[in-house]
Amino acid sequence: MEKAEIGLIGLGTMGSNLALNIAEKGHRIAVFNRTAARTDAFVDNAGALRDMVVPCYSLEELAAAIRPPRPIIIMVLAGKPVDEQIAALRGVLSANDIVIDAGNANFRDTMRRFSELSDSGLTFIGMGVSGGEEGARHGPSIMVGGTEQSWKRVEKVLTAISAKFRDEPCAAWLGTDGAGHFVKTIHNGIEYADMQMIAEIYGILRDGLSMGPREIAQVFAGWNKGRLNSYLIEITAKVLAADDPKTGQPVVDVILDRAGQKGTGKWSVIEAQQLGIPATAIEAAVAARVLSSIKDERLAAEKGYGNGGVTPISGDKDALLGDLELALFAGKIAAYAQGFAVMSGASKEFNWNLPMPTIAKIWRAGCIIRSQLLDTMAEAFGSGGGA
Ligand code: 6PG
Repeated sequence: MEKAEIGLIGLGTMGSNLALNIAEKGHRIAVFNRTAARTDAFVDNAGALRDMVVPCYSLEELAAAIRPPRPIIIMVLAGKPVDEQIAALRGVLSANDIVIDAGNANFRDTMRRFSELSDSGLTFIGMGVSGGEEGARHGPSIMVGGTEQSWKRVEKVLTAISAKFRDEPCAAWLGTDGAGHFVKTIHNGIEYADMQMIAEIYGILRDGLSMGPREIAQVFAGWNKGRLNSYLIEITAKVLAADDPKTGQPVVDVILDRAGQKGTGKWSVIEAQQLGIPATAIEAAVAARVLSSIKDERLAAEKGYGNGGVTPISGDKDALLGDLELALFAGKIAAYAQGFAVMSGASKEFNWNLPMPTIAKIWRAGCIIRSQLLDTMAEAFGSGGGA
């Protein structure tokens, strides 16, 4: 049988969707999952793409199915499972084979893994993938860190599966070792800031102007047609307009106001502090998430000290809405500028030579922070306004 172009380990939602995306773009893919039943289920549900998928039931089988040098994407939980998977792969791979971690890894782990694998002749790619499940299936933004040679081996597949902005692929090689995962981390830091600012504006509209979710949804939908046009504003409008099927209440009112976090926002702030670069919008967003998570303490404080209430905002409502739109836009510019400043500092610190115009370009489609502002930034970088 014709060898597969690439392999993938970990058929969870993200892994399955990436694998189907690769198959759909005409690249044969070998897949492996620790639980064989999941591999079977994946193949059974692959439909017309079935012929492009090579199911494998051992790592030896997986390695044998791929054209050398073998690129293998691992899509398992970040942290220890990645190290365990790499250790297991060492026994079946040969020199120049490429292990690709497509999870949200800490770039410091990626740098360590890159160096540990290079010692044994293997290559490592730390690949940031943004766009959630939908993006993985139909076109994510892809941020690659590793050797240029390893990028050349996977470039065709990764550019084929990535999102496109006016026909330009949103996938690029950004530098060596941890560069891709660092850029993905900062992407997420900006995402945290964007989401927090949206939440604060929602709070002002709800509490200050006594507006209901549907009315606020219309405000965001209107803003999405202008300078704030972006994925996060678009889905905010949709979420605020949605009702909970069980209670018939607006869905936003039945969701517990307690957010968790997986780590990327916090890592962005830690690195910004290490580099001595202010990233205040991201810092405030991470702190707000932590505050949101300590719901019990917040309730106890309210019991002890009372709820101060909110003073309604009076005045010309349209003028205020206009000001809030501008405030959100100004905050967004600050958050993105801070994110790029942190990347610029890290680029020098870790000798990555990060291509800022390319980063702005590959964030214009597919990823969670895609927005009109990034197109403007990409243009500005392109015309010499770069970092
Ligand atoms: C993406 C997202 C995705 C997820 C992050 C953040 O780019 O597709 O960033 O990776 O949203 O893991 O998750 P938390 O908000 O739970 O930390």
